[in-house]
Amino acid sequence: MVCLLSAVLLVGCAQKEAPEQAEEGIPTIAVEDHHSDDGVLRVGISMPSSSLERWNHDGEFLKKHLENEGYEVELTFSDNLIDTQIDNIDRLIEDQSDVLIIAAVDGKALSRVMETAAGNNIPVISYDRLICDTPFVTAYVSYDNYRVGQLQGEYLRDALNLDHPYDQTYHIELVSGDSADNNAAFFYNGAYDVLKPYIDSGVVQVLSGQKDFYTTSTDQWSGENARSRMEILLGAYYSSSVTLHGVLCANDSTASGVMEALERDYHMDNSVVITGQDCDVSNLDAIMEGKQSMSVYKDLNREAQTAVELTKAILNGESVNASLVERMEYPCRYDTSQYNNGIISVPSFLLEPETVTADNATDILVEKYGSYTYGELGFQRVME
Ligand code: BGC
Repeated sequence: MVCLLSAVLLVGCAQKEAPEQAEEGIPTIAVEDHHSDDGVLRVGISMPSSSLERWNHDGEFLKKHLENEGYEVELTFSDNLIDTQIDNIDRLIEDQSDVLIIAAVDGKALSRVMETAAGNNIPVISYDRLICDTPFVTAYVSYDNYRVGQLQGEYLRDALNLDHPYDQTYHIELVSGDSADNNAAFFYNGAYDVLKPYIDSGVVQVLSGQKDFYTTSTDQWSGENARSRMEILLGAYYSSSVTLHGVLCANDSTASGVMEALERDYHMDNSVVITGQDCDVSNLDAIMEGKQSMSVYKDLNREAQTAVELTKAILNGESVNASLVERMEYPCRYDTSQYNNGIISVPSFLLEPETVTADNATDILVEKYGSYTYGELGFQRVME
C-alpha cells in the first residue's frame, strides 16, 4: 500500500508536498498557510442533493454550527449529478475554501478534484459517504453504516419471529441503496449478514431470486426507482395469493417508493414489515400509521457537530487522531481500519445509529435527542 500511495502522490501532486505521515501511516494534510489574505477562514460544503430531506438539514446544520464558530461558509447542492458536484467543488476551491466538507454523489468520481484540493493545500472531510480512490481525504465522519444495516436486519428477524418460524416460510424482498454510494454496500452487508442464515436454511425465501447488492440496488436512492422495481416484483411474484412478509428497504426514500407500490399493487391483507433509515418526517407519519415498521435514526446535529470539531482541529493545525473523540459530547468511535477507500484507510469518526418504531419514536426523537417535536401535525424537525 505504501508503494501505491507513493506512486499516486508522485503523479497527483507535482507542485505539492506529500501529505505528512501521521501515526499508523495515515496521511494528513497540515494546514500551515491559509489562502485568504483577509484573515477569514472559509469552509466549503458540497452536499449531494437538496431533494432528500436529510441533506438539506445536514447542509443547514453544518452551515449554522460553522458560522457560530466564526467561519465563512459556502454551501452547495449537486442535484445528485456527478458533474454538478465536481463543478461545485472546483468553485469552492477557487473561492479559497480552507477546508472542504463533502458528501459525495459518487464516491469514486472525485479523484481529480481531490487532487486539485490537495494541490491547493485544502484538507477534505468526507461527510457521511466515503470518498474513494484518492489518498487526499483527511477524515471521514459518519454513522456506523454496517450497524445501520444490522439494525434493519435484526428488526426484520425479530418482527417476523424468524428464530421460531413454526414451519412457516417467510417471503421477503430486498431494496438496496445506490451502488455509487459507498455506504449502500455497508447497509446491505450489515442487514444481509443477519438474514443470511435464515435464507440459507429456507426459513426466508426471496421469491424474485434477486438477492445480491447490485441486482437489488436503487439508482440515486430514488423512491420512483424503488417503486417501479417493486411494482414489477409484485406483478411477477406476488400476483395472486402469495404473501409478501417483509421488504428490507435501505432508507426512507426507498421505503416510500415501496409503500406506494404496495398500496396500489399488493392484494393480500397482511401488513408487510418495511424497514427504513433517516426518520424523514413523512416516513415517521407512515410509522405512526403502521404502514412503515421502523426507521434508523442518525442524529444529523451530532454528525454535523463532529464535522465542525474536526474542522476546528484541522484549522488549528492539530493532527487527526483518536484523541479528538474526547471532544464529542456523545458516543463517537475512532476507527482506522473499517473504511479503506481503495488507496488509504481513512481515519473515521463513527456515531451510533438507533432503531425507531411507533413505540419509541417520541421517547427517542423528542425526549432523548430533542431533535423533533410531536404534535397535531405529527413530527417536525427542530432546527436550532
Ligand atoms: C445516507 C443515508 C441516506 C442515503 C440517501 C446515504 O449515504 O447515509 O442517510 O438515506 O444516502 O441519500
